[in-house]
Amino acid sequence: METAGKPNQDWKADRYAQHAHFVPALGAPVLELLKPQAGERILDLGCGDGVLTEKLAATGAVVVGVDAAADMIAAARRRGLDARVMEGGKLTFAGEFDAVFSNAALHWMKQDRDAVIAGVHRALKPGGRFVAEMGGHGCVAGITVAIIAVLERHGIKDGAATIPWYFPTVDDYRARLERGGFKVEYIELIPRPTPLPTNMAGWIELFAQPFLNRLPAEQRAGAVEEVVEMLRPVLCDEQGRWTGDYIRLRFAAHRQ
Ligand code: BEZ
Repeated sequence: METAGKPNQDWKADRYAQHAHFVPALGAPVLELLKPQAGERILDLGCGDGVLTEKLAATGAVVVGVDAAADMIAAARRRGLDARVMEGGKLTFAGEFDAVFSNAALHWMKQDRDAVIAGVHRALKPGGRFVAEMGGHGCVAGITVAIIAVLERHGIKDGAATIPWYFPTVDDYRARLERGGFKVEYIELIPRPTPLPTNMAGWIELFAQPFLNRLPAEQRAGAVEEVVEMLRPVLCDEQGRWTGDYIRLRFAAHRQ
C-alpha cells in the first residue's frame, strides 16, 4: 500500500493496523505463488508496515522492503526488517534480486506504472521473478461510484479525475509487463469480496483520502456518512458486517 505517485494520501501505521490488517493477512496466496527459497534475495515492493515482509523473511529469504511512506517503514524497522523509504517509480537497485514481490501496493503507483515495471526489471537478476497481487479492473467499483456521487452532491463535478488507484485489466497489465521485458507465466483477475474488520467509514477514511481532500474539512465527516448510507443496502449485511467489493489481479512473470 505504498504511496508512490503521491495520490495525496497520508499513511499512518496505527490506523492501517486497525482498519486494514486484512490486507497482509490475505496475502498468503501470492506468497505461495512466489515460492520463496531460503537464501534468495527478495525485494518487497510497497512493504507497508512489514507484516507480510516478516513472513517472507521467516522462510529464510534475505528480504529488503521498500515503501514511500516513512511512518510505515518506521513500523517495519521496529520488526527488525531491512526496510527503506523509496518510491516504487524510483527504485535504485540493479541486478541484485532473485525475486521482486508485491502485495496490495502496485495500484497506488498510478502515475508511475511503467517506471515501476522498469525499476523492477533493473532490480532483478536475469531470469528473476516478479510475483505480485494488486487491485484489478473493477476493484471497489461500487465504493468508488458512491464516493463520486456524493462528491457531486457537494459540488465536485469531476470526482472521477481524483480516482487515486490504477486497477488494470489482464490485457493491459500483461502488455505492460511484456513491453517492460518480462515473460508472463500467469496472470488472472480474481473477484474477492473482502470482509472489512471495522466498517465502511473506517475504510473510506483510511483508503479514500484523496477524494475526501477535495472537500472543505468541515464537510468531510458528513460526506463519509452519506457514502456509508448509499452503500449500506449493497455492502452491509443484516448483522451490520461490511464487505469491500475487491477484485485482485495476481501474476507471476520473469525477467527475460
Ligand atoms: C487494496 O489494498 O487492495 C486496496 C486499497 C484501496 C482500494 C482498493 C483496494
